[in-house]
Formats: sequence, C-alpha cells, structure tokens
Amino acid sequence: MIVKIDNLSHDLKGIAKVNGKVTFIDNVLPGEVVNIKIFEEKKNYNKGKVISYIEKSKDRIINNCPYFDKCGGCSFSGTMEYKKNIFMDIFKRYAGIEIIPDVIYSDSIYGYRNKITMKISNGKLSLVEEESNELVNIEKCLLCNDKINSVIERLSSINLDGLKEVIIRGTDSIMVILKGEYDYDIVTKLLEGYVDSIIYNDVCVYGDEYITINVGKYKYSVFPDSFFQVNTLMISKLYDIVKECAGKGDKLLDLYCGAGTIGIYLADNFNKVRGIEINKDAIRGANLNKEINGVNNISFELGNANNIKIDEDTVVVDPPRSGLDDKTRNIIINSNIKKLVYVSCNPITLARDINIFKDKYDIKSVTLFDNFPNTGHMESVCLLERK
Ligand SMILES: C[S@@+](CC[C@H](N)C(=O)[O-])C[C@H]1O[C@@H](n2cnc3c(N)ncnc32)[C@H](O)[C@@H]1O
Repeated sequence: MIVKIDNLSHDLKGIAKVNGKVTFIDNVLPGEVVNIKIFEEKKNYNKGKVISYIEKSKDRIINNCPYFDKCGGCSFSGTMEYKKNIFMDIFKRYAGIEIIPDVIYSDSIYGYRNKITMKISNGKLSLVEEESNELVNIEKCLLCNDKINSVIERLSSINLDGLKEVIIRGTDSIMVILKGEYDYDIVTKLLEGYVDSIIYNDVCVYGDEYITINVGKYKYSVFPDSFFQVNTLMISKLYDIVKECAGKGDKLLDLYCGAGTIGIYLADNFNKVRGIEINKDAIRGANLNKEINGVNNISFELGNANNIKIDEDTVVVDPPRSGLDDKTRNIIINSNIKKLVYVSCNPITLARDINIFKDKYDIKSVTLFDNFPNTGHMESVCLLERK
C-alpha cells in the first residue's frame, strides 16, 4: 500500500497511518511517499517495510550498499539534523528541558565499525533480515572498516557450514571469533598473516587472546567478550569532550568503566582515578590497559554500580542503554559529586535520569555525536554540575 510519512519516532523510524493505525517504517523520512508492506501487526501498531520509493526527500542520504533493502543493518537514511531534532524533542518530553546540543559529526558515514556479528546460512556469512528473520548472505558490509571487509571476503571463499556465528573485531589488528562446530584449522590456514587472533568456542587457537585498538596516545586491549566503542573514527572525539567536561581535579570515578578506557584517557588530569565495572573480562582488560599505557594513578574494582560508596568530586557514568537504575541514581543524588559527566547511547534513558537529577544539578553542556551513521542510534555526553 502507498503511504506518506508524517514524522519520525524517537528511534528514527518513519511514522505513517495505515487505516488509522500507527505504522513504523525504517529508512524513510518525513514527507516521503512510499509503497510498503506490513510485516508485523501488533495490537496498537504495525511494522512496515518499504517495497519502493515513490517520492523521495531531498534530505535523503543515498546508501550505496548492495544489501541495503535486504539486511536491515542500515535503518536510517537522513542527515544528522534529524537526529538533533529528535534528541531535543526527547529532552523536552522526558526531562522537561529545552536544550540545543553541540553536534560532532563523523568523518565518514561508511567504514567506521570495528565489529560485525554474522550468522551462517548455506555455508556463507549472513546478516539477519528484520522482516522475515531470514538470513541474507553478504560478502561485505559498508559500515565496517576495510580490514574487516578483507577478512569477510576471504571467509566468503570457503564453506562455513557447522559454524553458528562469526564475529570480526578490530581496526589495525583483527580478531575473528568462531562459534559452533568446525575444523578451525581450515580458517586458521586461510587467515594466517591476515588476522592477529582467532578464538574458537572461547579458546584462543591462533595469535593473541586479545587485540589492541589505538585511541589518541593510548593503546587499548580488546578481549573477545568485552565492550568497546564501535566507531573507531569517533572514540577520541568522544573521549576528548568527556575529558573537557570532567576538567581537572583530585579524585575521579569512572563508573561502568568497561576496559578502563575513559578513566585512563582522563588520568593525566586527576591525582587518583577509580574505575568500577561488573564484567570480569572487562576488569581484566582494564588492568592490562593500565599496564600497557603506564598509568599508575588508577585502580579498578569489580562491582555493581548500585552498590558503591562515592567519595569522588567528579564522576563519569557510561551505563548500558537501560541507563541508571533507581539505586544508582539515589547513590549519586545522596553523594557530594560536584561534576557528573553522563555518557549515553540512549537519549530516552539519559533524559529520564536527568529529569530526576535536575533539581540538584544544572545542565552545563550537551554534545551529540554521530557515532552510528546510517542507523537511528546516537551517542551523547552531558555535563551536570551540582547547584
Ligand atoms: C556502554 S559500556 C561503557 C564502557 C566504557 N566506559 C567504554 O567507553 O568503553 C557500559 C559498561 O557497563 C558495564 N555494566 C553494566 N551494568 C553494570 C553495573 N550494574 N555496574 C557496573 N558496570 C555495569 C558493562 O559491562 C559495560 O562494560
């Protein structure tokens, strides 16, 4: 059926009415007229997919990917202006605050990803199509960097039947993670000299058990299961703003520290830094990163953010998409933190948390980063200072 897109949802999906029912559609912009099919019907809304574009917006960014209409990895085709407007709308709606964020653009809308997770179908690497949950064979992903794509190309030359999942991570050095049943020697021989690490069902079978990614003057280890910012081109831009927001001081707490990347990046400006993280592997990476980078004024603790005492003046929080939980928010509210730097990949939970902090904290700055071009995701950093 043919529909006109009215506006965008908070996760950058197009909204159209079909027989009075709200229908969410990926990769469309307000004003566009598209031919769609409904692929999922819920009680209160539908999900639709574009079959063809009838009238396109002048703001549309052309996507050159050969799998664009199939794989679903690219879900948004508009400029950063749209993300900025949605971000401002979310703040107004969930925090009751009118803000205009600074925007930091990505140098490139392609080649930025340092990680891809693929399934196997018919012995080939594949991504999951949202509509049918079917697997779409791919031989490259334009969002990933060249090194990852050269490994995808090599792996495409063999039959991978038996494997369930293949993850490729890295920028300068590359790790391949294989899950399932397979003669991993075949992959090892094929990728010898091309990659730096192969992990087969959690065991390192080639090279090192971690790879490293350079960010500014720092070198960070990345273990198979640990979190790492996915847009290599943007990490130093993001951490530079976090550093500027945190300023200089005596003690810094890096809460949800992952592999200690932010704490280490900021350690020059503080006498003492403490990182807290719930994932054991990430803490292992953090301690290694401390050593690799020769940073001596930082320590890491394995623990839950919602069960800590804070005696630092300056705190950086970088929680998962779910944001801060009630207990963590209360700990922050009842402590004497003067500066709170909130790094977020989900503006809705960020605005929800800021709504709770706003009686005690003033918002000093908000910066929005185009860390995920061609998708509806965004990253942001917000500086709060105690009133
Ligand atoms: C968005 S990542 C941030 C990592 C790091 N700051 C960085 O820039 O790479 C969120 C991290 O929070 C950790 N995490 C999740 N829940 C947690 C909790 N309740 N307490 C402490 N850490 C938690 C995750 O394991 C993950 O490493």
